Amino acid sequence: MNKVILLDKRPVGKPQISDFKINIEDVPVADDGEILLQTRYVSIDPYLRGRMNDAESYVPPFELKKPLQSGIIAEVIDSNNTRFKIGDFVLGNLDWKEYQVSDGKGLRSIPNEPAYLTAYLGILGMTGLTAYLGLTQIGFPKPGETLVVSGAAGAVGSIAGQVGKFLGCRVVGLTGSDEKVQLLKSKFHFDEAINYKTTVDLNRAIKAACPDGVDIYFDNVGGKISDAVLNNINKYARIPLCGAISLYNESGPVLGPYIQPILVKKSALIRGFIVSDFADQFPAATKQLTAWLMEGNLSYHETIYEGFDHIPQAFLGLFDGSNEGKMIVKI
Ligand SMILES: NC(=O)c1ccc[n+]([C@@H]2O[C@H](COP(=O)([O-])OP(=O)(O)OC[C@H]3O[C@@H](n4cnc5c(N)ncnc54)[C@H](OP(=O)(O)O)[C@@H]3O)[C@@H](O)[C@H]2O)c1
Repeated sequence: MNKVILLDKRPVGKPQISDFKINIEDVPVADDGEILLQTRYVSIDPYLRGRMNDAESYVPPFELKKPLQSGIIAEVIDSNNTRFKIGDFVLGNLDWKEYQVSDGKGLRSIPNEPAYLTAYLGILGMTGLTAYLGLTQIGFPKPGETLVVSGAAGAVGSIAGQVGKFLGCRVVGLTGSDEKVQLLKSKFHFDEAINYKTTVDLNRAIKAACPDGVDIYFDNVGGKISDAVLNNINKYARIPLCGAISLYNESGPVLGPYIQPILVKKSALIRGFIVSDFADQFPAATKQLTAWLMEGNLSYHETIYEGFDHIPQAFLGLFDGSNEGKMIVKI
């Protein structure tokens, strides 16, 4: 028996469990040159929401009634491919299936070290690279500057803030609960953290937390939170625009304050990016993140749901703030 999760309906607004469907198939057999994979850990990411819309983007939309995909760590359980042997662990963009065959293209072998296996979906994977490269290649942090991070307790935000701290910035995080405020200060060593859900005047709270103004704004959420941060930027501020999760469930364009006058007045740089823009720097960035992790200068946090059937629930949880750090499903 092989469970498969399909996109049954394109979500309208916030995704619902009923947008997904679990089907049962036979377990496939690996042909010549193929391997049979058993899914172990599934990466749950906000960008998947964009792929559920029938709209042009930097990745093609998911097809209706077909399996969804994301970053997956899988174990090789049968092999007719000389590159892989039974017991190897691989990472790749794979289908939401318990078992699947692959010809190995696009798969990367990863060390089978239980203590660090899931790190390849987070701090040593896509989200860690996004945080590090977005901050260093667009934010250009300098010691003594003030960095504000939105979505600060999530997979990308928690790493961006720690890298900023390590590079000498004063770091302020914006997040959605008092527990996450505590996590940012205690585990990730942010200087200040603000609960955007309970703060009445966010503009004022950011001003108070950033007495010298904001030099870098690492934006993961967009919308009203970002409007409040932009009111506090300094001259020559840099804004790596990483994501806009607060707007992903909007059906059409949303009217906000026009930001051009602020950017002009402050000679500020705002640049959207996709982590793959910096693909040539992945090896060096991974080396740096690995070194900081091994030296104990970076920590990471994971929220792990258990069970294949809980993949859709974990995905919906991203929009409720159910995760601290990287959202992962363990199969
Ligand atoms: N550019 C790239 O290449 C790239 C790569 C990876 C990720 N991203 C983007 O980076 C952002 C963070 O991704 P991630 O994987 O690290 O996810 P994440 O931050 O671990 O999880 C999503 C978090 O977003 C927050 N959130 C949800 N709805 C919100 C809303 N309406 N307003 C404000 N915050 C909201 C929630 O935290 P709270 O409890 O704090 O609300 C939630 O825990 C996303 O926008 C994602 O699309 C971009």
